[in-house]
Amino acid sequence: MGKYRGSSKLLLQPKNTEEVSQILKYCNSRCLAVVPQGGNTGLVGGSVPVFDEVIINVGLMRNILSFDKVIVSGVLVCEAGCILENLISFLDDEGFIMPLDLGAKGSCQIGGNVSTNAGGLRLLRYGSLHGSVLGLEAVLANGTVLDMLGTLRKDNTGYDLKHLFIGSEGSLGIVTKVSILTPPKLSSVNIAFLACEDYTSCQKLLLEAKKKLGGILSAFEFLDSDAMSLVSSTTFLGTENHGQEVIKDKHGQDFTSIDLRALPLEFWYSYASGSIFMENLEAFLLHSVESGLVANGVLAQDINQASSFWHIREGLPEALMKAGAVYKYDLSLPLEKMYDLVEEMRVQIGPAAKVVAYGHLGDGNLHLNISAPAYDDNILAKIEPFVYEWTSKNRGSISAEHGLGLMKAAKIHYSKSPETVRLMIDFDYCVFELLPDTSCLDDNHSIICLCLSA
Ligand code: MLT
Ligand code: ZN
Repeated sequence: MGKYRGSSKLLLQPKNTEEVSQILKYCNSRCLAVVPQGGNTGLVGGSVPVFDEVIINVGLMRNILSFDKVIVSGVLVCEAGCILENLISFLDDEGFIMPLDLGAKGSCQIGGNVSTNAGGLRLLRYGSLHGSVLGLEAVLANGTVLDMLGTLRKDNTGYDLKHLFIGSEGSLGIVTKVSILTPPKLSSVNIAFLACEDYTSCQKLLLEAKKKLGGILSAFEFLDSDAMSLVSSTTFLGTENHGQEVIKDKHGQDFTSIDLRALPLEFWYSYASGSIFMENLEAFLLHSVESGLVANGVLAQDINQASSFWHIREGLPEALMKAGAVYKYDLSLPLEKMYDLVEEMRVQIGPAAKVVAYGHLGDGNLHLNISAPAYDDNILAKIEPFVYEWTSKNRGSISAEHGLGLMKAAKIHYSKSPETVRLMIDFDYCVFELLPDTSCLDDNHSIICLCLSA
Protein backbone atom coordinates (compact mmCIF):
# COMPACT_ATOMS: atom_id res chain seq x y z
CA MET A 1 0.00 0.00 0.00
CA GLY A 2 2.97 2.30 0.59
CA LYS A 3 1.12 3.90 3.52
CA TYR A 4 3.02 2.42 6.46
CA ARG A 5 6.81 2.35 6.47
CA GLY A 6 8.56 0.26 9.05
CA SER A 7 12.14 -0.12 10.14
CA SER A 8 13.53 -2.95 12.17
CA LYS A 9 17.02 -4.28 12.64
CA LEU A 10 15.95 -7.79 13.50
CA LEU A 11 13.55 -10.36 12.12
CA LEU A 12 13.23 -13.65 13.98
CA GLN A 13 11.63 -16.73 12.48
CA PRO A 14 10.90 -19.27 15.22
CA LYS A 15 10.35 -22.86 14.14
CA ASN A 16 8.08 -23.91 16.99
CA THR A 17 6.12 -22.72 20.04
CA GLU A 18 9.06 -23.25 22.37
CA GLU A 19 11.18 -20.85 20.30
CA VAL A 20 8.37 -18.23 20.28
CA SER A 21 8.22 -18.60 24.05
CA GLN A 22 11.98 -18.17 24.48
CA ILE A 23 12.08 -15.12 22.21
CA LEU A 24 9.24 -13.42 24.09
CA LYS A 25 10.74 -14.28 27.46
CA TYR A 26 14.07 -12.79 26.43
CA CYS A 27 12.57 -9.65 24.85
CA ASN A 28 10.37 -9.14 27.90
CA SER A 29 13.33 -9.42 30.29
CA ARG A 30 15.22 -6.78 28.23
CA CYS A 31 12.22 -4.51 27.65
CA LEU A 32 12.50 -5.02 23.90
CA ALA A 33 9.37 -4.25 21.90
CA VAL A 34 8.21 -6.89 19.43
CA VAL A 35 5.76 -6.99 16.57
CA PRO A 36 4.26 -10.33 15.53
CA GLN A 37 3.96 -10.86 11.82
CA GLY A 38 2.10 -13.34 9.65
CA GLY A 39 1.76 -13.07 5.88
CA ASN A 40 1.98 -9.27 6.00
CA THR A 41 -1.25 -8.83 4.07
CA GLY A 42 -3.00 -6.59 6.61
CA LEU A 43 -4.40 -3.25 5.50
CA VAL A 44 -4.24 -1.27 8.75
CA GLY A 45 -0.51 -1.28 9.50
CA GLY A 46 -0.77 -3.89 12.26
CA SER A 47 2.35 -5.85 11.41
CA VAL A 48 4.65 -2.96 10.55
CA PRO A 49 7.57 -2.33 12.96
CA VAL A 50 6.96 1.42 13.17
CA PHE A 51 8.75 1.75 16.53
CA ASP A 52 11.82 -0.28 15.53
CA GLU A 53 10.43 -3.44 17.13
CA VAL A 54 11.90 -6.91 16.80
CA ILE A 55 9.79 -8.71 14.18
CA ILE A 56 8.60 -12.19 15.14
CA ASN A 57 7.50 -13.86 11.96
CA VAL A 58 5.77 -17.23 12.37
CA GLY A 59 6.00 -18.16 8.67
CA LEU A 60 8.21 -21.20 9.34
CA MET A 61 5.60 -22.73 11.63
CA ARG A 62 3.56 -24.21 8.83
CA ASN A 63 2.80 -27.82 9.72
CA ILE A 64 -0.62 -29.39 9.54
CA LEU A 65 -0.70 -31.33 12.80
CA SER A 66 -3.85 -33.41 12.36
CA PHE A 67 -7.06 -33.70 10.46
CA ASP A 68 -9.88 -35.69 11.97
CA LYS A 69 -12.59 -36.52 9.51
CA VAL A 70 -13.92 -39.52 11.42
CA ILE A 71 -14.47 -38.93 15.12
CA VAL A 72 -15.38 -35.25 15.21
CA SER A 73 -15.96 -34.67 11.56
CA GLY A 74 -13.69 -32.07 9.94
CA VAL A 75 -11.38 -30.81 12.70
CA LEU A 76 -8.12 -29.42 11.37
CA VAL A 77 -5.26 -28.66 13.77
CA CYS A 78 -2.34 -26.70 12.36
CA GLU A 79 0.41 -24.23 13.14
CA ALA A 80 -0.11 -20.49 12.86
CA GLY A 81 2.14 -19.97 9.83
CA CYS A 82 0.11 -22.20 7.48
CA ILE A 83 -0.88 -20.24 4.40
CA LEU A 84 -4.65 -20.12 4.00
CA GLU A 85 -4.58 -21.28 0.37
CA ASN A 86 -2.53 -24.37 1.31
CA LEU A 87 -5.12 -25.25 3.95
CA ILE A 88 -7.89 -24.76 1.39
CA SER A 89 -6.23 -27.19 -1.06
CA PHE A 90 -5.39 -29.70 1.68
CA LEU A 91 -9.03 -29.75 2.76
CA ASP A 92 -10.28 -29.90 -0.82
CA ASP A 93 -8.34 -33.17 -1.30
CA GLU A 94 -9.97 -34.48 1.88
CA GLY A 95 -13.47 -33.52 0.73
CA PHE A 96 -13.85 -30.58 3.13
CA ILE A 97 -13.69 -26.81 2.86
CA MET A 98 -12.15 -24.05 4.90
CA PRO A 99 -14.92 -21.92 6.46
CA LEU A 100 -12.81 -18.88 5.59
CA ASP A 101 -11.81 -17.54 2.17
CA LEU A 102 -10.28 -14.21 1.26
CA GLY A 103 -8.59 -12.53 -1.68
CA ALA A 104 -5.24 -12.57 0.14
CA LYS A 105 -5.38 -16.37 0.61
CA GLY A 106 -2.17 -16.94 -1.36
CA SER A 107 -0.08 -15.14 1.27
CA CYS A 108 -2.08 -14.66 4.47
CA GLN A 109 -1.58 -17.12 7.32
CA ILE A 110 -4.09 -18.78 9.58
CA GLY A 111 -2.52 -17.37 12.78
CA GLY A 112 -2.93 -13.85 11.42
CA ASN A 113 -6.45 -14.66 10.19
CA VAL A 114 -7.42 -15.79 13.68
CA SER A 115 -5.65 -12.93 15.45
CA THR A 116 -7.47 -10.39 13.28
CA ASN A 117 -10.72 -12.37 13.11
CA ALA A 118 -10.60 -12.09 9.33
CA GLY A 119 -14.02 -12.23 7.69
CA GLY A 120 -13.79 -12.64 3.93
CA LEU A 121 -16.10 -13.91 1.26
CA ARG A 122 -18.06 -16.74 2.87
CA LEU A 123 -18.86 -15.41 6.33
CA LEU A 124 -22.47 -15.12 5.23
CA ARG A 125 -22.69 -18.90 5.19
CA TYR A 126 -20.09 -20.17 7.65
CA GLY A 127 -20.09 -17.41 10.25
CA SER A 128 -17.08 -15.76 11.86
CA LEU A 129 -13.98 -17.44 13.24
CA HIS A 130 -15.47 -17.06 16.72
CA GLY A 131 -17.77 -19.88 15.63
CA SER A 132 -15.38 -22.15 13.72
CA VAL A 133 -12.21 -21.92 15.80
CA LEU A 134 -12.52 -24.69 18.40
CA GLY A 135 -9.27 -24.00 20.16
CA LEU A 136 -5.89 -22.35 20.00
CA GLU A 137 -2.47 -22.16 21.57
CA ALA A 138 -0.99 -18.75 22.34
CA VAL A 139 2.17 -17.41 23.93
CA LEU A 140 1.95 -14.46 26.32
CA ALA A 141 4.50 -11.66 26.42
CA ASN A 142 6.43 -13.28 29.29
CA GLY A 143 6.78 -16.55 27.35
CA THR A 144 3.96 -18.43 29.12
CA VAL A 145 2.37 -20.92 26.73
CA LEU A 146 -1.43 -21.13 27.03
CA ASP A 147 -2.66 -24.48 25.76
CA MET A 148 -6.29 -23.98 24.77
CA LEU A 149 -5.98 -26.18 21.71
CA GLY A 150 -9.19 -28.14 22.32
CA THR A 151 -11.04 -29.88 19.53
CA LEU A 152 -14.36 -30.25 21.33
CA ARG A 153 -17.59 -28.79 20.00
CA LYS A 154 -18.81 -28.21 23.56
CA ASP A 155 -16.79 -27.20 26.61
CA ASN A 156 -18.44 -25.06 29.28
CA THR A 157 -15.66 -25.10 31.86
CA GLY A 158 -15.23 -21.49 32.91
CA TYR A 159 -14.33 -18.57 30.67
CA ASP A 160 -13.75 -19.41 27.02
CA LEU A 161 -10.51 -17.44 26.83
CA LYS A 162 -9.66 -18.38 23.26
CA HIS A 163 -12.18 -15.77 22.13
CA LEU A 164 -10.01 -13.03 23.59
CA PHE A 165 -7.23 -13.99 21.20
CA ILE A 166 -9.54 -14.08 18.17
CA GLY A 167 -9.53 -10.54 16.86
CA SER A 168 -7.29 -8.95 19.52
CA GLU A 169 -4.57 -8.45 16.89
CA GLY A 170 -1.68 -9.82 18.91
CA SER A 171 -2.21 -7.40 21.79
CA LEU A 172 -2.54 -10.21 24.34
CA GLY A 173 -0.13 -12.73 22.88
CA ILE A 174 0.98 -14.57 19.77
CA VAL A 175 -1.26 -17.33 18.41
CA THR A 176 0.92 -20.34 17.58
CA LYS A 177 -1.57 -23.16 16.85
CA VAL A 178 -5.19 -23.33 15.85
CA SER A 179 -7.88 -26.00 15.72
CA ILE A 180 -10.71 -25.26 13.37
CA LEU A 181 -13.96 -26.94 12.43
CA THR A 182 -14.30 -27.38 8.67
CA PRO A 183 -17.55 -28.27 6.88
CA PRO A 184 -17.76 -31.08 4.30
CA LYS A 185 -17.50 -29.95 0.71
CA LEU A 186 -20.74 -29.92 -1.22
CA SER A 187 -20.30 -31.28 -4.69
CA SER A 188 -21.61 -28.40 -6.75
CA VAL A 189 -21.05 -24.71 -6.84
CA ASN A 190 -22.25 -21.97 -9.11
CA ILE A 191 -21.95 -18.22 -9.32
CA ALA A 192 -24.21 -15.61 -10.80
CA PHE A 193 -22.85 -12.20 -11.69
CA LEU A 194 -25.78 -9.81 -11.67
CA ALA A 195 -26.23 -6.13 -12.30
CA CYS A 196 -28.75 -3.85 -10.61
CA GLU A 197 -29.71 -0.32 -11.61
CA ASP A 198 -29.27 1.12 -8.13
CA TYR A 199 -28.28 0.31 -4.58
CA THR A 200 -31.87 -0.12 -3.35
CA SER A 201 -32.34 -2.97 -5.84
CA CYS A 202 -29.13 -4.64 -4.58
CA GLN A 203 -30.43 -4.44 -1.05
CA LYS A 204 -33.85 -5.84 -1.99
CA LEU A 205 -32.19 -8.62 -3.98
CA LEU A 206 -30.19 -9.66 -0.93
CA LEU A 207 -33.35 -9.97 1.15
CA GLU A 208 -35.04 -11.96 -1.62
CA ALA A 209 -32.00 -14.24 -2.03
CA LYS A 210 -31.88 -14.89 1.71
CA LYS A 211 -35.58 -15.71 1.77
CA LYS A 212 -35.72 -17.83 -1.37
CA LEU A 213 -32.30 -19.49 -1.47
CA GLY A 214 -31.44 -19.52 2.22
CA GLY A 215 -29.19 -22.51 2.79
CA ILE A 216 -27.50 -22.63 -0.59
CA LEU A 217 -26.37 -19.01 -0.63
CA SER A 218 -22.73 -18.85 0.41
CA ALA A 219 -21.67 -15.39 -0.67
CA PHE A 220 -23.37 -12.16 -1.66
CA GLU A 221 -20.81 -9.57 -2.70
CA PHE A 222 -21.17 -6.09 -4.11
CA LEU A 223 -19.16 -3.75 -6.30
CA ASP A 224 -20.32 -0.41 -7.60
CA SER A 225 -19.89 0.99 -11.09
CA ASP A 226 -16.66 2.82 -10.20
CA ALA A 227 -15.21 -0.42 -8.87
CA MET A 228 -16.37 -2.21 -11.98
CA SER A 229 -14.76 0.29 -14.35
CA LEU A 230 -11.56 0.27 -12.33
CA VAL A 231 -11.23 -3.49 -12.49
CA SER A 232 -12.16 -3.71 -16.15
CA SER A 233 -9.80 -0.93 -17.21
CA THR A 234 -6.86 -2.53 -15.45
CA THR A 235 -4.83 -5.10 -17.27
CA PHE A 236 -3.45 -6.60 -14.06
CA LEU A 237 -5.66 -9.66 -14.56
CA GLY A 238 -3.14 -10.92 -17.09
CA THR A 239 -5.19 -10.87 -20.26
CA GLU A 240 -6.05 -7.66 -21.99
CA ASN A 241 -9.68 -6.72 -21.17
CA HIS A 242 -10.14 -10.00 -19.33
CA GLY A 243 -12.61 -8.34 -16.99
CA GLN A 244 -14.95 -7.42 -19.84
CA GLU A 245 -14.82 -10.72 -21.65
CA VAL A 246 -16.16 -12.78 -18.81
CA ILE A 247 -19.01 -10.55 -17.92
CA LYS A 248 -21.01 -10.35 -21.08
CA ASP A 249 -24.50 -11.63 -20.70
CA LYS A 250 -25.85 -14.29 -23.00
CA HIS A 251 -26.85 -11.70 -25.59
CA GLY A 252 -23.29 -10.50 -25.69
CA GLN A 253 -24.03 -7.22 -23.89
CA ASP A 254 -21.10 -5.87 -21.95
CA PHE A 255 -21.86 -5.21 -18.25
CA THR A 256 -19.09 -2.70 -17.87
CA SER A 257 -20.49 -0.28 -20.40
CA ILE A 258 -23.61 0.55 -18.37
CA ASP A 259 -23.80 2.38 -15.08
CA LEU A 260 -24.80 -0.45 -12.79
CA ARG A 261 -23.91 -2.00 -9.52
CA ALA A 262 -22.82 -5.58 -9.90
CA LEU A 263 -23.11 -8.51 -7.54
CA PRO A 264 -21.30 -11.82 -7.55
CA LEU A 265 -23.53 -14.35 -5.78
CA GLU A 266 -22.23 -17.80 -4.98
CA PHE A 267 -24.27 -20.92 -4.30
CA TRP A 268 -23.13 -24.31 -3.02
CA TYR A 269 -25.34 -27.33 -3.11
CA SER A 270 -25.00 -31.09 -3.05
CA TYR A 271 -24.93 -32.90 -6.37
CA ALA A 272 -27.68 -35.36 -5.43
CA SER A 273 -30.22 -32.61 -4.95
CA GLY A 274 -28.50 -30.41 -7.54
CA SER A 275 -31.33 -30.35 -10.05
CA ILE A 276 -33.83 -29.09 -7.46
CA PHE A 277 -31.41 -26.35 -6.41
CA MET A 278 -30.68 -25.42 -10.01
CA GLU A 279 -34.41 -25.16 -10.70
CA ASN A 280 -34.81 -22.97 -7.61
CA LEU A 281 -31.89 -20.84 -8.60
CA GLU A 282 -33.05 -20.37 -12.16
CA ALA A 283 -36.56 -19.52 -10.98
CA PHE A 284 -35.11 -16.99 -8.52
CA LEU A 285 -32.96 -15.36 -11.20
CA LEU A 286 -35.81 -15.26 -13.70
CA HIS A 287 -38.14 -13.70 -11.16
CA SER A 288 -35.49 -11.13 -10.18
CA VAL A 289 -35.10 -10.07 -13.80
CA GLU A 290 -38.86 -9.99 -14.44
CA SER A 291 -39.54 -7.94 -11.31
CA GLY A 292 -36.90 -5.44 -12.37
CA LEU A 293 -34.56 -6.02 -9.42
CA VAL A 294 -31.88 -7.35 -11.76
CA ALA A 295 -31.14 -5.44 -14.95
CA ASN A 296 -28.73 -7.92 -16.46
CA GLY A 297 -26.83 -11.02 -15.43
CA VAL A 298 -24.96 -14.21 -16.16
CA LEU A 299 -24.91 -17.58 -14.47
CA ALA A 300 -21.45 -19.13 -14.80
CA GLN A 301 -21.49 -21.88 -17.40
CA ASP A 302 -18.44 -23.70 -16.09
CA ILE A 303 -15.85 -23.64 -13.33
CA ASN A 304 -13.52 -21.40 -15.35
CA GLN A 305 -16.16 -18.75 -15.76
CA ALA A 306 -17.06 -19.05 -12.07
CA SER A 307 -13.46 -18.46 -11.05
CA SER A 308 -13.20 -15.53 -13.46
CA PHE A 309 -16.06 -13.89 -11.58
CA TRP A 310 -14.24 -14.31 -8.29
CA HIS A 311 -11.08 -13.07 -9.95
CA ILE A 312 -12.82 -9.79 -10.76
CA ARG A 313 -14.04 -9.31 -7.18
CA GLU A 314 -10.82 -10.47 -5.56
CA GLY A 315 -8.71 -8.37 -7.92
CA LEU A 316 -10.17 -5.09 -6.67
CA PRO A 317 -7.73 -4.41 -3.79
CA GLU A 318 -4.77 -4.99 -6.12
CA ALA A 319 -6.30 -2.84 -8.87
CA LEU A 320 -6.70 0.00 -6.36
CA MET A 321 -3.12 -0.28 -5.20
CA LYS A 322 -1.91 -0.15 -8.79
CA ALA A 323 -4.01 2.97 -9.39
CA GLY A 324 -2.00 5.05 -6.87
CA ALA A 325 -2.60 5.99 -3.24
CA VAL A 326 -5.64 4.51 -1.54
CA TYR A 327 -7.38 5.43 1.71
CA LYS A 328 -9.21 2.31 2.82
CA TYR A 329 -12.14 2.14 5.23
CA ASP A 330 -13.68 -1.14 6.33
CA LEU A 331 -17.06 -0.42 7.85
CA SER A 332 -20.06 -2.28 9.21
CA LEU A 333 -23.18 -0.25 8.59
CA PRO A 334 -26.93 -0.77 8.61
CA LEU A 335 -27.74 -2.07 5.13
CA GLU A 336 -30.25 0.64 4.29
CA LYS A 337 -27.74 3.43 5.03
CA MET A 338 -24.62 1.87 3.58
CA TYR A 339 -24.54 3.48 0.17
CA ASP A 340 -25.60 6.92 1.48
CA LEU A 341 -22.12 7.21 2.92
CA VAL A 342 -20.52 6.47 -0.46
CA GLU A 343 -22.61 9.15 -2.13
CA GLU A 344 -21.96 11.69 0.62
CA MET A 345 -18.26 10.94 0.43
CA ARG A 346 -18.28 11.66 -3.33
CA VAL A 347 -19.76 15.08 -2.64
CA GLN A 348 -17.34 15.69 0.22
CA ILE A 349 -14.23 14.78 -1.82
CA GLY A 350 -15.17 16.36 -5.14
CA PRO A 351 -12.93 15.79 -8.14
CA ALA A 352 -9.71 15.42 -6.09
CA ALA A 353 -10.11 11.66 -5.76
CA LYS A 354 -12.27 8.72 -6.84
CA VAL A 355 -14.58 6.95 -4.40
CA VAL A 356 -14.70 3.23 -5.09
CA ALA A 357 -17.06 1.00 -3.12
CA TYR A 358 -17.34 -2.75 -2.83
CA GLY A 359 -17.73 -5.26 -0.05
CA HIS A 360 -19.58 -8.09 1.57
CA LEU A 361 -23.15 -6.89 1.23
CA GLY A 362 -24.48 -10.08 2.77
CA ASP A 363 -22.65 -9.20 6.01
CA GLY A 364 -23.40 -5.47 5.99
CA ASN A 365 -19.70 -4.77 5.39
CA LEU A 366 -18.70 -1.89 3.12
CA HIS A 367 -15.16 -1.42 1.80
CA LEU A 368 -14.99 2.29 1.09
CA ASN A 369 -11.88 3.23 -0.87
CA ILE A 370 -10.72 6.69 -1.81
CA SER A 371 -8.28 6.47 -4.66
CA ALA A 372 -5.97 9.40 -5.37
CA PRO A 373 -2.79 9.87 -7.41
CA ALA A 374 -0.74 10.31 -4.19
CA TYR A 375 -1.26 10.51 -0.41
CA ASP A 376 -2.25 14.07 0.37
CA ASP A 377 -3.15 15.68 3.72
CA ASN A 378 -5.81 17.87 2.10
CA ILE A 379 -7.64 14.80 0.85
CA LEU A 380 -7.26 13.07 4.20
CA ALA A 381 -8.74 16.10 5.97
CA LYS A 382 -11.87 15.73 3.82
CA ILE A 383 -12.23 12.05 4.71
CA GLU A 384 -11.43 11.98 8.42
CA PRO A 385 -13.01 12.44 10.91
CA PHE A 386 -16.08 12.67 8.62
CA VAL A 387 -16.10 8.94 7.83
CA TYR A 388 -15.72 7.90 11.48
CA GLU A 389 -18.31 10.38 12.74
CA TRP A 390 -20.79 9.24 10.10
CA THR A 391 -20.23 5.60 11.04
CA SER A 392 -20.53 6.28 14.73
CA LYS A 393 -23.71 8.34 14.28
CA ASN A 394 -25.27 5.40 12.45
CA ARG A 395 -24.14 2.91 15.10
CA GLY A 396 -21.78 1.15 12.71
CA SER A 397 -18.31 -0.22 13.29
CA ILE A 398 -15.13 1.49 12.08
CA SER A 399 -13.53 -1.92 11.63
CA ALA A 400 -15.73 -4.70 10.31
CA GLU A 401 -13.02 -7.24 9.51
CA HIS A 402 -9.59 -5.64 9.00
CA GLY A 403 -8.86 -4.85 12.64
CA LEU A 404 -7.79 -1.58 14.23
CA GLY A 405 -4.05 -1.82 13.63
CA LEU A 406 -1.95 1.28 13.72
CA MET A 407 -4.47 3.09 11.57
CA LYS A 408 -7.42 2.96 13.95
CA ALA A 409 -6.19 1.99 17.43
CA ALA A 410 -6.75 5.55 18.65
CA LYS A 411 -10.14 5.75 16.94
CA ILE A 412 -11.73 2.90 18.88
CA HIS A 413 -14.02 5.34 20.74
CA TYR A 414 -16.03 5.84 17.55
CA SER A 415 -17.28 2.27 17.94
CA LYS A 416 -16.92 1.40 21.61
CA SER A 417 -18.16 3.19 24.71
CA PRO A 418 -15.64 4.68 27.20
CA GLU A 419 -16.62 2.00 29.74
CA THR A 420 -15.95 -0.79 27.26
CA VAL A 421 -12.58 0.65 26.29
CA ARG A 422 -11.72 1.04 30.00
CA LEU A 423 -12.54 -2.61 30.60
CA MET A 424 -10.34 -3.63 27.67
CA ILE A 425 -7.44 -1.62 29.10
CA ASP A 426 -7.99 -3.06 32.59
CA PHE A 427 -8.07 -6.51 31.09
CA ASP A 428 -4.86 -5.84 29.22
CA TYR A 429 -3.24 -4.80 32.53
CA CYS A 430 -4.48 -8.01 34.16
CA VAL A 431 -2.81 -10.14 31.51
CA PHE A 432 0.35 -8.09 31.69
CA GLU A 433 0.46 -8.44 35.48
CA LEU A 434 1.57 -11.97 34.76
CA LEU A 435 4.86 -10.46 33.69
CA PRO A 436 7.63 -10.86 36.26
CA ASP A 437 8.76 -7.27 35.75
CA THR A 438 6.27 -4.66 34.59
CA SER A 439 8.55 -1.68 35.13
CA CYS A 440 9.24 -1.37 31.42
CA LEU A 441 5.56 -1.22 30.47
CA ASP A 442 4.32 2.13 29.36
CA ASP A 443 0.67 3.05 28.98
CA ASN A 444 0.53 1.39 25.59
CA HIS A 445 2.00 -1.90 26.87
CA SER A 446 4.54 -1.65 24.13
CA ILE A 447 6.49 -4.78 25.03
CA ILE A 448 4.20 -6.74 22.87
CA CYS A 449 2.96 -4.54 20.10
CA LEU A 450 -0.73 -3.89 19.76
CA CYS A 451 -1.24 -5.37 16.36
CA LEU A 452 -0.74 -8.33 14.11
CA SER A 453 -1.70 -8.77 10.52
CA ALA A 454 -2.92 -11.75 8.60
C1 MLT B 1 -11.72 -7.61 0.38
O1 MLT B 1 -12.86 -7.87 0.73
O2 MLT B 1 -11.39 -7.58 -0.81
C2 MLT B 1 -10.68 -7.36 1.43
O3 MLT B 1 -11.23 -7.17 2.68
C3 MLT B 1 -9.66 -6.34 1.07
C4 MLT B 1 -10.13 -4.96 0.84
O4 MLT B 1 -10.96 -4.45 1.56
O5 MLT B 1 -9.66 -4.29 -0.07
ZN1 ZN C 1 -13.29 -7.77 2.74
